Amino acid sequence: MRTIYFGTFVHSLALSDLQVLQSAAVGVHEDGTIEFLDENADSPEAVAEKHSWPAGSYSIVSPDPASASFFFPGFFDTHIHASQYPNVGLFGKTTLLDWLNTYTFPLESSFADLKVADSVYSRVIARTLGNGTTTAAYYATVHTASTNRLADLALSAGQRAFIGRCCMDANSPDYYCDKSLEEAQVATLDVIEHIKKIDPSHNIVCPILTPRFAASCTKELLSWLGKLATDTKLPVQTHISENLLEVELVKNMHPFGNSYADVYDKCGLLGDRTILAHAVHLTDDERVLIAKRGSGVAHCPASNSALTSGETRVKLLLDAGVKVGLGTDVSGGFTPSILHTARQALLVSRHLSMEGDESHKLSIEEVLYLATVGGANVCGLGNKLGNFLPGKKWDAQLITLDCKDSPVDIFPWERQKHEDLVAKWLFNGDDRNVTKVWVDGKLVAGTEFAL
Ligand code: GUN
Ligand code: FE
Repeated sequence: MRTIYFGTFVHSLALSDLQVLQSAAVGVHEDGTIEFLDENADSPEAVAEKHSWPAGSYSIVSPDPASASFFFPGFFDTHIHASQYPNVGLFGKTTLLDWLNTYTFPLESSFADLKVADSVYSRVIARTLGNGTTTAAYYATVHTASTNRLADLALSAGQRAFIGRCCMDANSPDYYCDKSLEEAQVATLDVIEHIKKIDPSHNIVCPILTPRFAASCTKELLSWLGKLATDTKLPVQTHISENLLEVELVKNMHPFGNSYADVYDKCGLLGDRTILAHAVHLTDDERVLIAKRGSGVAHCPASNSALTSGETRVKLLLDAGVKVGLGTDVSGGFTPSILHTARQALLVSRHLSMEGDESHKLSIEEVLYLATVGGANVCGLGNKLGNFLPGKKWDAQLITLDCKDSPVDIFPWERQKHEDLVAKWLFNGDDRNVTKVWVDGKLVAGTEFAL
């Protein structure tokens, strides 16, 4: 059945253009495609008549007009390690390279056991969906069976997911690595085949080629993945320039590259469906190269703060024409929430501006754009997702600020100040305010779903 959503809608049209539409209506087809977005509508019935939708041919979803609620596009988490979720908050005083050896590789190696994968992955999907993340770019582990299981679970939960099997054939511990180039190749192809079988159109789950980072891959593996990306048009995800010791390590390991970005470029890995996580220590030339190739950056402010990696210059990336979205980077990042990550992005930009250059400062409108339209662009889905324009898919969350146990206090005189309500949501809201979530027109989470 078709659906008319009626109420207040908030969505981004451009980086600094956050639109608030009251008494608006969105008409959605059975297949999840948005047919119309009407402002200043009198009622769902009046809108239906205008679009020649006969009575009885559609259902209506309309939150109580007396509640402080609005529809918002689903969030994009452009970088999350599903396998690291048990470690959220565990990082002590480590930085990237010792954090990987102390906390991360031991945990990831336990995913040889499918029971571990089942319990962790089902929880991560429920938790991220419950926080309004309708699309996630996941890293799994090196294990084929566990990675395939992540794809199965995302598909059955109805969350859009890019599923990445980690490739790492160099410079990694003996107990957790690809033993050979061939092992990485066979496992990568196995995961691609599996996902083709369970979701042939890749509408919900899609494989993503995942060299962990240049410091854990041979040139041969990087180049093979680059060629595979070109041949299959599959997306790619990896890390870039997160930490200064890592940048140095990559320089020594791969002297054929003029820069970190150039290593990936020479191996054919910088395409217009490539997601580069962190990008903290890039040079101007690297930003230009990444923009030229059409690759995107996953900005991970919570992780970059926790692991003291540094402060990504988001405004410089945007000014250079690089696509930018937000990533939680669980568990370098401590929160699975993109709302919290948007808050962190705003604060980190203020720390940068305190160093003397105000132009680094990001606004509320800008971080919410990164969380939605920016993320969609980074995932190569900008024509299909990110806001409520006709022709796109209904991936949405219903935010209710005065729900039971809400962490946000709304006073009577604030109810009509929608810009203020959005600000209060960004800084004080959490998953309790996410009262319903839809993907592809289907309800996938909500208060009736137990987390
Ligand atoms: N670089 C290589 N692997 C990782 C990882 O798991 N997390 C982060 N933050 N950086 C990485
Ligand atoms: Fe990461």
